Amino acid sequence: MPLHIPAEFVEKYNKPGPRYTSYPTVPAWEQEFGEPEYREALTELNDRPADELAIYLHLPFCAKACHYCGCNMLVTREKGAVEQYLDRVEQELERVTSIIGTGRKVAQFHWGGGTPNYLNEEETDRALNMFRGAFDINADAEVSLEIDPRIATPEQTLSLKQAGFNRISMGVQDFDQRTQKAIGRNQSREKTLKIYQSCRDAGFEGVNVDLVYGLPGQTVESFTDTLKGIIELQPDRVACFSYAHVPWVRPNQELVDTTIMLTGYDKFQLFMLTVDMFQEGDYSWIGIDHFAKKSDELSVALENRALHRNFMGYATKPAPHMLAFGMSGIGDVCDRFVQNDADFGGWSDGIDAGGLPIVKGHKLSADDKLRRFAILNLMCNLELPWSLTEEAYGAPANELLADSLKALPPLIEDGLATMDEGGIRITAKGRYFVRNVAMILDAYLGKGKGKPIFSKTV
Ligand SMILES: C[S@@+](CC[C@H](N)C(=O)[O-])C[C@H]1O[C@@H](n2cnc3c(N)ncnc32)[C@H](O)[C@@H]1O
Ligand code: SF4
Repeated sequence: MPLHIPAEFVEKYNKPGPRYTSYPTVPAWEQEFGEPEYREALTELNDRPADELAIYLHLPFCAKACHYCGCNMLVTREKGAVEQYLDRVEQELERVTSIIGTGRKVAQFHWGGGTPNYLNEEETDRALNMFRGAFDINADAEVSLEIDPRIATPEQTLSLKQAGFNRISMGVQDFDQRTQKAIGRNQSREKTLKIYQSCRDAGFEGVNVDLVYGLPGQTVESFTDTLKGIIELQPDRVACFSYAHVPWVRPNQELVDTTIMLTGYDKFQLFMLTVDMFQEGDYSWIGIDHFAKKSDELSVALENRALHRNFMGYATKPAPHMLAFGMSGIGDVCDRFVQNDADFGGWSDGIDAGGLPIVKGHKLSADDKLRRFAILNLMCNLELPWSLTEEAYGAPANELLADSLKALPPLIEDGLATMDEGGIRITAKGRYFVRNVAMILDAYLGKGKGKPIFSKTV
């Protein structure tokens, strides 16, 4: 039964806040955390040889910049740019394996971007072989990448599958031509469908789609048409991101025509529509903005309250550590978060100087770990049973987090959550504002460390 949430209510909770892809969130990390601290984390990892790893490789190249893009991407006409980039990734890899050794087991290997399928077949093979030489990628590992269907061909998707990728996710954003024009992304429905079908024919285990709501030109009618078209395709998973308009960080967004862009409650209605249509279309709503077919393992994990997430997305059994390679990559190693330089020049210079170009990071304290556990549980599994913390943290969550929980009653009164002797549960209405509930457990907000780069609910 679709839920109607009135405008005044949305306004009340439309506060800037993190999306909690990590806790503590990036603005709370320290710039004093650099290469020596990363090396220390890698040395500790070397002492835990049985722990499995997740690997992220950032490939920033794109054929052309989309006006709306908020990713760390790069458009270059320079010949040999990919080759030079891979040379540097290779050096980064050698520096990491000189500490942790080669042959570590990998359960998850993801290529993000930019546009990983910008690489030609030879470059793709080179990158894959580099990592296969350094790690032991499990036979049942998730090996995934993001592609731009506009530059893909059915031959390429088949060759990616044959090369060993088993999950693929493609950027669609919106089928509507007016919106595509307004975001500088001309992508015919026919081409998208052709590439989607080629991924199915190639036999990928997961074929996923990215959409964005709140883009210029979108209306309830036009987005309904896009959602219908996507639900007909039945991708395994869909991410429907809220358009983040941050031209001061991404100057390419100056080209976005904001005069035809829905904002505030109008934008929120696009999201309510998305939730209703996917739920009617037999998808489960995962986390803030993801949807998975009811049969998908993410939906089953949500049913069993066993959903997790890391920087690469939602997962059923995430590896305990994540190593990131390439500019802007974010890793999570032995309770330290680490971020590579997001600037192409900065990252390249750092590698050329013989180092590991870490620009910030954070070592989690015992309190951080407890709050991370509680927040991620609320965000993924929509509940925080008190007893969950007993084994790992020695006491029920309501005792350990008693101070923060004093802020919960007004949210309960507003119907966002319930609390009883067993724990906290997010309500159907609270699903839309789960970040607001999680924020009460965030020890860094309002302490001057969480700079306001966060987005609002809509
Ligand atoms: C790396 S891209 C996906 C692959 C490929 N580059 C493409 O665009 O098809 C990652 C996704 O981030 C999302 N995205 C990009 N810019 C965004 C923004 N400003 N706000 C919200 N989502 C955005 C889009 O859904 C996009 O598909
Ligand atoms: S949306 Fe994708 S293709 Fe467009 S500029 Fe961003 S990363 Fe590149």
